[in-house]
Amino acid sequence: MSTLRLPGLIDVHVHLRDPGGTHKEDFATGTAAALAGGIVAVLDMPNNSPPVINAGSLRAKQAATEKAHCDYGLYLGATENNAAAVARLHDQACGLKMYLGQTYGPLRLVELSAVMAHFREWPARRPIAIHAEGLALAGVIALAQAHNQPVHLCHVSRAAEIALIRAAKERGAPITCEVTPHHLFLTETDAQRLGPFGYMKPTLGTAADRDALWANLDVVDCVATDHAPHTIAEKEGEHPPPGVPGLETVLPLILTAVHEGRLSLERLVELMRDNPARIFGFAPPEGEIEIDTTAQHIISRQGLHTRCGWTPFEGTSVRGRVRKVVLRGKLAYCDGEVLAPRGFGQPLYTQRNLAQ
Ligand code: DOR
Ligand code: ZN
Ligand code: ZN
Repeated sequence: MSTLRLPGLIDVHVHLRDPGGTHKEDFATGTAAALAGGIVAVLDMPNNSPPVINAGSLRAKQAATEKAHCDYGLYLGATENNAAAVARLHDQACGLKMYLGQTYGPLRLVELSAVMAHFREWPARRPIAIHAEGLALAGVIALAQAHNQPVHLCHVSRAAEIALIRAAKERGAPITCEVTPHHLFLTETDAQRLGPFGYMKPTLGTAADRDALWANLDVVDCVATDHAPHTIAEKEGEHPPPGVPGLETVLPLILTAVHEGRLSLERLVELMRDNPARIFGFAPPEGEIEIDTTAQHIISRQGLHTRCGWTPFEGTSVRGRVRKVVLRGKLAYCDGEVLAPRGFGQPLYTQRNLAQ
């Protein structure tokens, strides 16, 4: 066995469904899945039922986090009329999330004036994370520049989008971006094969889109899973919701790419730990993961910790198995078992943790 040690990883984009969707996932199962994947901190999205858009719904989310096995930050959600209210809550959040396209849940902005109100009110020291595809993405980059407001672009998936991001970054736009493992490793051909289990927003692109993400990996800031669990019954139902789980499969997939010489280990740590902490302004939790790099295995739903119990990567051969995770001095995960108790997870945004 050959052992590799890496610092604990950070996922800046997950949907743990708690409160309101705990039959899909909750803060305990979602953070257990994170630890099993070598991830010691997650940033959780606000499209809950009800959405996290004001002080009351933020308190309900904070109550749900009492079950967390790993560390976490929480996003607030932007609506057409809550710009001033969410700005007042900014110091309790990792960022503001804005949906400019139809996805899952009720959060969506359509009025430019509402989007601009958020850009005016939201304090520039935390990013605005945005779901925007195609032309909407171009509009958001213009807003980031006009307001000199850091914007984090979620799940970039198309060749034209990453080309635009490169050009805008070269001209100094205050933007960062993430790509997901599903857009790096799957295409529309897989979407046909997988049916509802390969359906998410943004949808899977062409092989040319996927290849463009790899070719432009140097302008990508983070790999984030967009872990979006839905039950098998929901996926097989008449109106399958978009989204796929990813917390437990991202590291083996990326380590396999490292093994194939597609990126370096140093770059992996930048994409999955250093940049996430820098962009969202917290000190990364102290922690280490131990990986068996000789362990070639086939990804399977057996033994997954996510409550949804499936993966779009079923049957994929990967290299690298997470053996141990140590978080703040505690053996938090070992060989399939989560050892950090519920409630061990800490909020990232405490005075102690703030990077600036
Ligand atoms: O596929 C997706 N699922 N895209 C999103 O933007 C939302 C997510 C979800 O919450 O299920
Ligand atoms: Zn999204
Ligand atoms: Zn998402």
